[in-house]
Amino acid sequence: MRPKLVVGNWKMNGSRANNATLLAGIVAGVAGLDAAKAACAVCVPAPYLQQCADTLTGTQLAWGGQDVSKHASGAYTGEVAASMLADFGCRYVIVGHSERRAYHGESDQLVAQKAQAALGAGLIPIVCVGETLDEREAGQTNAVVTRQLTAVLELLDDAAIERIVVAYEPVWAIGTGKTATPVMAQEVHAQLRGQLRERSAQAAEKVAILYGGSMKPDNALELMAQGDIDGGLIGGAALKAADFLAIIAAA
Ligand code: G3P
Repeated sequence: MRPKLVVGNWKMNGSRANNATLLAGIVAGVAGLDAAKAACAVCVPAPYLQQCADTLTGTQLAWGGQDVSKHASGAYTGEVAASMLADFGCRYVIVGHSERRAYHGESDQLVAQKAQAALGAGLIPIVCVGETLDEREAGQTNAVVTRQLTAVLELLDDAAIERIVVAYEPVWAIGTGKTATPVMAQEVHAQLRGQLRERSAQAAEKVAILYGGSMKPDNALELMAQGDIDGGLIGGAALKAADFLAIIAAA
């Protein structure tokens, strides 16, 4: 049985002062967390990685970045290399979030290259897939998420695939309060699990598939009770310690 994983995506939010209060609250709340049952992390804006390293080292709360360059180093102004995230003790990095696919034109191939770069630096990429409302209403959900995951599976070998995390984030549920129902989410998660299984039974068993998109304390338990939902990628609710801890407790 895979341990559950709950990851907070702070997006472009935070301040050193607010972070100190939020992180202290979360750390206190996860102190006795059974790692065999659930793991947790926060993915923060890059300027706050040192604060995370200073505050979270030795605690049950891991940390990570929200994006990474596909390049190892060089003349790529503004980009952050995977090795730099590793320098700050990151365990995870989100790649292919729908906001980056939409606002920065990130292709499936670029997302796959970012996942590969992350793995090369010893990080765990959280590969985001998900359909827009138009795509869902056009019956394209499975085709879209399959296409997005295929780009990653085609680039990585079996051993590498076993080290990724996948996050299904229906774009229409992100930040809207319109959560996918447990049945809707489970259907897509099962489809993604099947795609992994076609590649390798071991990968299908090992890879955690998180749900993201308005997961809150009042719906987390039912969502994470689904057979193929292994945790959550949390936006808004991750910015309040009590809500984030309530979701972790539901894992
Ligand atoms: O990456 C997680 C995020 O996209 C979900 O946001 O606010 O709907 O929980 P939210």
